[in-house]
Amino acid sequence: MYDEFLVFTQRLAQNVGDLLYRDCQNTKLIEHKGAVDLVTQFDRQSQDLIVKDIEQRYPDHGILSEEDIMKDSANPMKWIIDPLDGTTNFAHGLPIWSLSIALEREGDVIVGVVYDPTRQELFSAQQGRGAWLNGVLIKISTTADLDKALLVTGFPYDIRESTMNNLDHFGKFALCSQAVRRLGSAALDLCYTACGRFDGYWERKLSPWDQAAGSLIVKEAGGMITDFAGEPFSIYGDQVLATNGMIHEQMIDILNRRP
Ligand code: IPD
Ligand code: CA
Ligand code: CA
Repeated sequence: MYDEFLVFTQRLAQNVGDLLYRDCQNTKLIEHKGAVDLVTQFDRQSQDLIVKDIEQRYPDHGILSEEDIMKDSANPMKWIIDPLDGTTNFAHGLPIWSLSIALEREGDVIVGVVYDPTRQELFSAQQGRGAWLNGVLIKISTTADLDKALLVTGFPYDIRESTMNNLDHFGKFALCSQAVRRLGSAALDLCYTACGRFDGYWERKLSPWDQAAGSLIVKEAGGMITDFAGEPFSIYGDQVLATNGMIHEQMIDILNRRP
């Protein structure tokens, strides 16, 4: 039913991502949005290209994109875009970054695409139809014990100012899992959980564009996604816990354990 949108989004993410990759060695003009929150001209260039194509093809759809674009519309379709997820890595030349494009219909994400141009890995999902990596169906892992689980997380940009900076949870999981990683692209964290490279991922204070596409990819790959209390996940919410389902309760237990 949403095939047309899926194909359009896959092509768009790939085309723009490959252009960014071609130019990513060029000088980066780095601006600070906050003490540790960066933006480059490539974030804006990527956003311009993505938004231009969407507006050309679907002029009456709404758009929410990270670098200050919020176009409301009476049409129930809304595009949610992170034109460059992993800007800190990108700015330092660390090749772990992605583009994330999702299409929401009346509050439900129906199509999600995350593209990693460095590895030419295209993750995508369509509601009710499954999730794929480069066209091949993906599934979550089967690790049942937190003790054996490889986890991933991230830290919010207010890490220096707020005590809710995830350092406490990071410390706890580091002691009771196989290991915890911090890659720096929430969209890829979700996709890597979806395809079984990670068994679980938690983070807080993300924005809708960080998690819209990736959350659908996790669900469609058979994963479980909730907030830290096990309540339904929302891309507009403050917490994300995405796992293979088998270690979900064990992670909720740690997330809610008193010091
Ligand atoms: C960030 C990345 C990072 C996460 C941050 C996000 P950006 O997105 O996804 O992994 O920990 O909270 O804001 O700023 O690179 O698009
Ligand atoms: Ca992001
Ligand atoms: Ca971004």
